[in-house]
Amino acid sequence: MYCEDVPVRDVVEAVGTPVYLYSLAHLRDAFRTLDQAFAGTRHLVCFSVKANSNLAVLRAFVNEGSGFDIVSGGELYRVRKAGADPRKVVFSGVGKTREEMEYALRSGILMFNVESEQELEALNEVAGSIGVVAPVSFRINPDVDPQTHPYISTGMKKSKFGIAIDPAAAAYRHAIALPHIDVVGVDCHIGSQLTSTSPFSDAAARVRAFVETLRRDGANIRYVDLGGGLGIRYDDEQPPDPRDYAKALTDGIGDQDVTLVLEPGRSMVGNAGILVTRVLYLKRGEAKNFVVVDGAMNDLIRPSLYGAFQGLRPVVRREAEPMTADVVGPICESGDFFAQDRQIQTPTPGDLLAVMSAGAYGFTMASNYNTRPRAAEVLVDGNEFAVVRERETLESLVAGEKIPAML
Ligand code: LLP
Repeated sequence: MYCEDVPVRDVVEAVGTPVYLYSLAHLRDAFRTLDQAFAGTRHLVCFSVKANSNLAVLRAFVNEGSGFDIVSGGELYRVRKAGADPRKVVFSGVGKTREEMEYALRSGILMFNVESEQELEALNEVAGSIGVVAPVSFRINPDVDPQTHPYISTGMKKSKFGIAIDPAAAAYRHAIALPHIDVVGVDCHIGSQLTSTSPFSDAAARVRAFVETLRRDGANIRYVDLGGGLGIRYDDEQPPDPRDYAKALTDGIGDQDVTLVLEPGRSMVGNAGILVTRVLYLKRGEAKNFVVVDGAMNDLIRPSLYGAFQGLRPVVRREAEPMTADVVGPICESGDFFAQDRQIQTPTPGDLLAVMSAGAYGFTMASNYNTRPRAAEVLVDGNEFAVVRERETLESLVAGEKIPAML
């Protein structure tokens, strides 16, 4: 298996396993394809940092002219380190702290996607205390079923995110009256890994109607942020082509004179990355076979957390009998698996397996559970590769801990 022109084996020899590998060409291509799909409309693509926040990945998007969707002060710190223009940064999330608000205000970001009235009050106060005005969109809840996994559906009435459309109208009236708030837009995000366009067009149409209402109320709406959510192919899904996705959104919004903001995460990076792991043992059981690998749920939690499908492929192809097995990690949890009852080529200890489509929500959701150092990350460009995050060391894992004098 190659990543661009680099044999995956060469990377493993240099860096070890488990290792995340990203293709720069794929990142660029995903960005350009989406950006071009919206070419006929004033728009700003804000890569959603939570999907992959490595500084090198962020820099690659900075170089493409991307903006960024952040959900924490930590992500703001990252995008600034990567050289992002703060005027292309939107700040989402239900629980922004006052410290984070001040940091974002002082950085001069494009807008805050506000998710509650109390958050609005806090933002007005923080902005007032440092003598600035905060640009605001409310995240509204169009109550559209995205037909995706419940943990990643976010735009329905029972969701913790956003404000339902009716109360949002009152929230806007209130916001317009606040001295340190400038109402600039409307925001929504209905969910992730969507594989059809209809929820997108439904949501866009509801946002459009709402924008018209707000304008009648005297709001100067300049931005409509339609979030992220475009799905990718993990298995046999048929996600919409970026052009069809763009058409669904732009048709839904119609001829409103606004700048469209998009917050794609997964579709920019998901299939640009793999996680390479090494087979440790083959354990044949009476009821099941297990392939034990050196990567685990702490490296890539999606299968454990969502029952998500991730493709698995041998890094070096050779003749082998097929077998059905669970591919599991070393962690002390039954939920620690990459695949269950999967047909794979019978591996031999030492073989390398690539966990496919691991570029999004892979490393960013990694942890140190079982005191496992987090994996290295590598970026490939043509026939070159660079380590863009060193594998953690055992010393670094305990660096912040102290044994107090009382012991
Ligand atoms: N904007 C907002 C406000 C979001 O909450 C999200 C994702 C995005 C944009 C980016 O959505 P995307 O284009 O990536 O679908 N960890 C889960 C996905 C969680 C998504 C959270 N929000 C997974 O591994 O499937």
